[in-house]
Amino acid sequence: MTDQKKSDQATSSEKPWGGRFSEPTDAFVERFTASVGFDQRLYHHDITGSIAHATMLAKVGVLTDAERDQIIEGLKGVKEDIEAGRFEWSVSLEDVHMNIEARLTDRIGITGKKLHTGRSRNDQVATDIRLYLRDEIDVIAEELARLQAGLLDLAEREADTIMPGFTHLQTAQPVTFGHHLLAWYEMLVRDADRLQDCRKRVNVMPLGAAALAGTTYPIDRNLTAELLGFDRPTENSLDSVSDRDFAIEFCSFAALLMTHLSRFSEELVLWTSAQFDFIDLPDRFCTGSSIMPQKKNPDVPELVRGKTGRVNGHLISLLTLMKSQPLAYNKDNQEDKEPLFDTVDTIKGCLKAYADMIPAIKAKADNMRVAAKRGFSTATDLADYLVKKGVPFRDAHEIVGKSVAFGVAESRDLSEMTLEELQQFSDVIGEDVFDVLTLEGSVQARDHLGGTAPNQVRAAVARARAALK
Ligand code: ARG
Repeated sequence: MTDQKKSDQATSSEKPWGGRFSEPTDAFVERFTASVGFDQRLYHHDITGSIAHATMLAKVGVLTDAERDQIIEGLKGVKEDIEAGRFEWSVSLEDVHMNIEARLTDRIGITGKKLHTGRSRNDQVATDIRLYLRDEIDVIAEELARLQAGLLDLAEREADTIMPGFTHLQTAQPVTFGHHLLAWYEMLVRDADRLQDCRKRVNVMPLGAAALAGTTYPIDRNLTAELLGFDRPTENSLDSVSDRDFAIEFCSFAALLMTHLSRFSEELVLWTSAQFDFIDLPDRFCTGSSIMPQKKNPDVPELVRGKTGRVNGHLISLLTLMKSQPLAYNKDNQEDKEPLFDTVDTIKGCLKAYADMIPAIKAKADNMRVAAKRGFSTATDLADYLVKKGVPFRDAHEIVGKSVAFGVAESRDLSEMTLEELQQFSDVIGEDVFDVLTLEGSVQARDHLGGTAPNQVRAAVARARAALK
């Protein structure tokens, strides 16, 4: 029998809670109920929380200073063991918390057993997840800001580039490519706001709730909260050990972020197709086909679009996990970790891919221009022109409709007709009509806050850069 197997079959009396049990846990049940396989990623935050807890216990006189120092030294040693790959995680010790505590006691002896005074794994795990998520939120916020900055640079570069704007995926009116990219940017601004808002509710400390009702020791929760950088301790012990709203909020932020990245992805996939051919994605973000030598597939956007499904799924998992739980802690809550961890990993990967890829996008301005012309995208401009000459809007709409029908029959855009041809439909049309029928005239005319005119795009980029700092 290997050492690992032996340690996995520790008898119930070797378990920290083994006192009241008369037979060992069923081997399958042990594996079935263990979380150490996935919650070991919390080791760093578990140890940080324990050091703060021991520091507080010494401050209020529950531990001596010497015991505190021994515990802290021991925990640091455990951390070194984990980071050096010397730590053998044991399934029989169920989770990260009991594994670390057992190893602490192996290292420093009986004092190790005092660490768990005045707390429970229920408030401990809730604290660990919050510490973990707070750190991940800060990393994610930075990566999101990197993507936002890249989008602003690209939008500025493409402020004058004209493309067709779409409704119903039919050519509608010309817009600048920079303006389109700033629409993406706005979605990310809301995501970044939501993330920071979520962080406020992540950053409160449940420790001290103990199993559910609080503890009989004279703990100082404000001190522990301060040591751990929490904004404050939570208010109610029952809520503290059972609340996973913060994880649901995070997953909801993530699902919406992924929904946005998925929408961007859909457009990138369309734009790289031979049918649109609006942009070029550098080869390093694409892959080929094993059978069709000509293929260059936009795998990164496709995969991001695909990963949206699992992130949305994790949100539903957590909502469903919580919906029927009575107060306070239930073992169900152990199921919060894998969806949360996978959400964190997935959005970090997607954000990195996007932040690297966006600045590398090359617009094919000539193709965008041809497409913008092809769809009579300045038809509304002609109607507005007629209205400004005194024609009622409904009549103007009719006149332009007839002009477009003529253009369709002749395979010519409005700007390619002669003045005489246009005047067949209305005699108020003059030579100045060509100022509004060009693509440049059309985008430049939408020169107000939030409009597509190139100078509005540049102004919006400047405002956004200032806000992003
Ligand atoms: N591994 C557990 C979890 O992830 C830790 C808390 C267990 N508490 C208990 N009383 N069984 O939620």
